[in-house]
Amino acid sequence: MIQRDDFQKILYGVLVVFIIGILIYVGFISTLTSASPAPERTPIPTLIPATLPAPQTVAGPAKCAVKAVDLFAAWIEAGYPETETFDVTAQNGTTCVASFRVDLLPVLNEANLWYPGAPACTTCHNNTLAATGAQMDLSSYSGILAGSRRASPDAKGNDILGGGIWERSLLYEVLITRKGQPLAMPLGRPPDLDITTVVVFAGVPK
Ligand code: HEC
Repeated sequence: MIQRDDFQKILYGVLVVFIIGILIYVGFISTLTSASPAPERTPIPTLIPATLPAPQTVAGPAKCAVKAVDLFAAWIEAGYPETETFDVTAQNGTTCVASFRVDLLPVLNEANLWYPGAPACTTCHNNTLAATGAQMDLSSYSGILAGSRRASPDAKGNDILGGGIWERSLLYEVLITRKGQPLAMPLGRPPDLDITTVVVFAGVPK
């Protein structure tokens, strides 16, 4: 016959086994969750919320599409002004207003402009005079006016602006007359490059 004490022992035993079972179960669950850490999420939402305001468009009139050589020609024929604007005719015939600093200097500084892989003019013609091609600095107004083949940084060299006549300028010669020749600029350009087809965005409609 089962005694009251025996019954208690059995009950306690069942309770202890039950509690141990729960502890093992909880332990097991926690190993499961720690085995798969929370996935890393990018802090930037990949989709832009549709409620964002429409992007602002750049203020002011659009730039003109101008042949790069026309820009040089117009600037030289206008007496190569440093700060005053000059007129240039865009490809579509519109008269546009350009300036040296905003429109011409960037053309000299731009790589990949004349053909894919083209170095910028200023890669070879800059203010490290002794190391440059033809000892000429095309990176600033004073450098351009000082000309080529300068003996020292404060020496004046050969005029490259043809005294204000585009067709007489050294720039015209190296860009246009020397087409197909080894010393056409930018140096190393493909012999069949037609530089008169190079178009830049410069100036704004008048
Ligand atoms: C890869 C280097 C390089 C690049 C790029 C380059 N030049 Fe030159 N340039 C030279 C060298 C070298 C000479 C001298 C050639 C010689 O021995 O006559 C020269 C000569 C000239 C001359 C003639 C100077 C003179 O007195 O004979 C002019 C003008 C000129 N470059 C303008 C430009 C312009 C404009 C550009 C950009 C369209 C340009 N160069 C891009 C290397 C370069």
